[in-house]
Amino acid sequence: MKRSIKTCKSLKDLEQLRLSLFGKKGSFAKEFAKMKSLPNSEKKDFAQKLNADKELFLNLLNDKKMILESEAIEQEMRDGSVDMTLFDSTPTSGALHPVMETMDKMIEYFVSMNFSIEEGPLVEDDFHNFEALNLPKYHPARDMQDTFYFKDSMLLRTHTSPVQIRTMLKEKPPIRIISPGAVFRRDYDLTHTPMFHQIEGLVVDKEGVVSFANLKFILEDFLKYMFGDVKVRFRPSFFPFTEPSAEVDISCIFCKGEGCRVCSHTGWLEILGSGVVDPNVFDAVGYKDVSGYAFGLGIERVAMLTHKIPDLRSLFEGDLRLLEQFR
Ligand code: PHE
Repeated sequence: MKRSIKTCKSLKDLEQLRLSLFGKKGSFAKEFAKMKSLPNSEKKDFAQKLNADKELFLNLLNDKKMILESEAIEQEMRDGSVDMTLFDSTPTSGALHPVMETMDKMIEYFVSMNFSIEEGPLVEDDFHNFEALNLPKYHPARDMQDTFYFKDSMLLRTHTSPVQIRTMLKEKPPIRIISPGAVFRRDYDLTHTPMFHQIEGLVVDKEGVVSFANLKFILEDFLKYMFGDVKVRFRPSFFPFTEPSAEVDISCIFCKGEGCRVCSHTGWLEILGSGVVDPNVFDAVGYKDVSGYAFGLGIERVAMLTHKIPDLRSLFEGDLRLLEQFR
């Protein structure tokens, strides 16, 4: 019997062997039946031996079953019509995430205008994110930015403006940079996610070389590049690190300025913050006799508008059905 199991060639034959041993009318059933007619003194030894045999044969059967099964799978793969090593020839291609695509388009514009790209850390300290940007501790304007704090006054940067400080501390003027990247704020609703992206711009040169007029020109030109034929409006505003400051609006791309739900019936969409660099910022980095301008804008906001995305949160759920629509 042991030999038959070892030389057995198919799972079907093996099942037959199993039945002949362990089936209702199999050898073991017959042997155990014999016990009844044995004298009590012999029953124990007989049962022990029989159980040992049973175990031995069960193991033999199981081992053989495993070998035959894996052989069967291999055979199936060899015979089967599916060649696992063959590449699928249907071309499928990935695509940029709408936020990255929008970011790339912005970068392309500024690089063409001779800006270079700077990056900074996502985990910042209080000095670069606030203090040096004319936002001293307990300054009420810190409330504008709901911050994620770590211990030891470290934090997740709330804007890309700390890269202004890092760049000025490391380089001498003139400066002409943009800085794209992720920023973090405690916000979560239709148009806000705790992580989003901004692009920062900073231009600094000798006193009098760059002015608000340069800022106005470049931002108007940039917004027309991004949104096509729109009107651009500069509105007085406040940022601690710029003086004067302006928020920049474009005429609503949905209603062409008539007034609709997206623009809250104002005809205008708020796009970015900007201004002339505040002298306190230059003091903080030890720059003298210079002037400059800076601006910052949220990339998701632009992506939402140009792609008509109603819920910003959907962009970060990684649902391919949504992302495939932006191929
Ligand atoms: N850092 C500002 C914000 O996050 C934007 C800004 C950048 C405004 C540069 C003015 C100048 O809201």
